[in-house]
Amino acid sequence: MMLAFVSLYDTSPVFHCIPLMTNSRVRLTLSAIFRKFIFPKVFIMVLNVNGVTHDVAVEPDDALLFVLRDKLDLTGAKYGCGEGACGACTVLINGAATRSCITPASSVAGKEITTIEGLEKNGELHAVQEAFLETDVFQCAYCASGMIMSTFALLKNTPSPSEDAIVKVMNGNICRCGTYPYIMKAIKLASQS
Ligand code: FES
Ligand code: FES
Repeated sequence: MMLAFVSLYDTSPVFHCIPLMTNSRVRLTLSAIFRKFIFPKVFIMVLNVNGVTHDVAVEPDDALLFVLRDKLDLTGAKYGCGEGACGACTVLINGAATRSCITPASSVAGKEITTIEGLEKNGELHAVQEAFLETDVFQCAYCASGMIMSTFALLKNTPSPSEDAIVKVMNGNICRCGTYPYIMKAIKLASQS
């Protein structure tokens, strides 16, 4: 148990956690077995999400979306296509709208990650969230988090976007319920606030 716990953090402590083995060759061999077969690539990284730092055990290929949802319980971002084509999983990385399903968690260490859960401040929804609510945009709302995060990023860079600019930026966010006219309306409303 202790071996397993320590090996999550670093492979070298595995070596030091075999105290009963006096033969260093045996210790090295066991350490290598742990490294290769038990926890091949798991390592601890620090993620800064919504202003809070978290130590999480990840493998290099773990998608950020699943780390957020399964390890940090931030389930606002959704899994849609899993290949960067629908926008349901959109979060902000250093302010830029990013598809978390195709972003390795290992690539965002030290960066500022914002999820839909991070938009609300002191119990108040963000103006973009309010605009989408007021416009009564969604039907199933599966796309909602991604739409709102993409809109947030758009308005941060372009506070008063033209309709063409909105279409261009939001083109990668798919709403399977076809609420696009309402989404456009909500974005225009948000841009006025
Ligand atoms: S789930 Fe990430 S873009 Fe579709
Ligand atoms: S409201 Fe259903 S996918 Fe957009």
